[in-house]
Amino acid sequence: MVKFSDRLGKLSPYPFVEISRIIAEKRAAGADVVTFGIGDPDIPTPQPIIDRLLTASQYAPNHRYPETDGLPEMRRAFAQWYDTRFNVKLDPDTEVLPLIGAKEGIGHAAFCFLDPGDIALIPDPAYPVYGVGTMFAGAESHIMPLYEKNGWLPELDAIPADVARNAKLMWLNYPNNPTSATASEEDFISAIAFCRENDIALLHDAAYSEVGYDGYKPISYLEVAGSKDIGLEFHSLSKTYNMTGWRIGMAVGNAAMIKALFQIKANLDSGVPQAVQEMAIEALTGPQDCVADNLDAYTRRRDRVVKAVKTMGMSVDVPRASLYIWAKVPDGYTSAEMAQLLLEELDVVVTPGSSYGKYGEGYIRLSLTTPDEQIEKGCQRLETWKIPPPKGS
Ligand SMILES: Cc1ncc(COP(=O)(O)O)c(C=O)c1O
Repeated sequence: MVKFSDRLGKLSPYPFVEISRIIAEKRAAGADVVTFGIGDPDIPTPQPIIDRLLTASQYAPNHRYPETDGLPEMRRAFAQWYDTRFNVKLDPDTEVLPLIGAKEGIGHAAFCFLDPGDIALIPDPAYPVYGVGTMFAGAESHIMPLYEKNGWLPELDAIPADVARNAKLMWLNYPNNPTSATASEEDFISAIAFCRENDIALLHDAAYSEVGYDGYKPISYLEVAGSKDIGLEFHSLSKTYNMTGWRIGMAVGNAAMIKALFQIKANLDSGVPQAVQEMAIEALTGPQDCVADNLDAYTRRRDRVVKAVKTMGMSVDVPRASLYIWAKVPDGYTSAEMAQLLLEELDVVVTPGSSYGKYGEGYIRLSLTTPDEQIEKGCQRLETWKIPPPKGS
């Protein structure tokens, strides 16, 4: 019998792998499933970006191994985009590193900071990869619970002094998945002060920085004084340019940390395919109307889904950023029970909040990355349905 690693046994099934399996099973049985599950844009990658891929694919040097640090032109394009968008100056040669999607960089970043037995400060509920990367590095997650009453921001004062002193890494993510919460400059100032005082690297995941509604423009953590001394920011082209399938993101910030991540990656992967890097150059430097068009679609869908969820009798805030509606399930139901019920009774897929950690219990997440007519169909199912009284009531 072969022997597998202990870490494999510690992994829960990745939530969306499980959800994809259930959807496939239901569809095979003939069900008309509407999914508000994974945050994977349904709108195609803009044509100029695809055209660039077609051209780039014909260029033989692009058929070979890419460099880990990517094409200089791509790093420059990203630095320029950062300057235009956030007024943050980055050295494209030392402060920018392409990733095979933000997820890859987030997972590998743990190896730059954490050794077995170390502590990382991990928010909960959260994108699962912060905690999984920590576990893969043999380190411990100290959970920072996020509560609605605090706007889904961590209570830094609640972190015990000895934990703070020993922690090596903190993850933050705003606009937040799954809660849709946003962070202000003051919130980042407090986090930076805390991390500086305790010599903690502060890593910020900004995958949803370009999904802000009603004129709201999320800020970059790197706009805040002192951030670059202690941290990195992780970006993704996935949601901004509907490029989840092409796999490209970026880490930016502290040069020594970028170098560390470069070293880890150079030993584990062989970089982002150059034709995909060319797509990123096109995305970042070409016409940006697709970003506004996406926002129009998501705003329409956000308003429609919020209305349906409220009509159903669940309480929900109108998000000002991100791709998700985070709705409170009625008393008497767990989030998994509610997700199960919606699937069984309405063929509607939502993600239980508990998939993002124990403090996500009591909520469900609905993603807006589903075509309009599917959104409409799903909303009609939701709002014409009566939530049955919970068992035992
Ligand atoms: C918070 C957060 N970070 C990172 C990612 C992954 O982005 P990418 O597609 O660039 O790997 C996601 C994807 O859903 C996310 O929700």
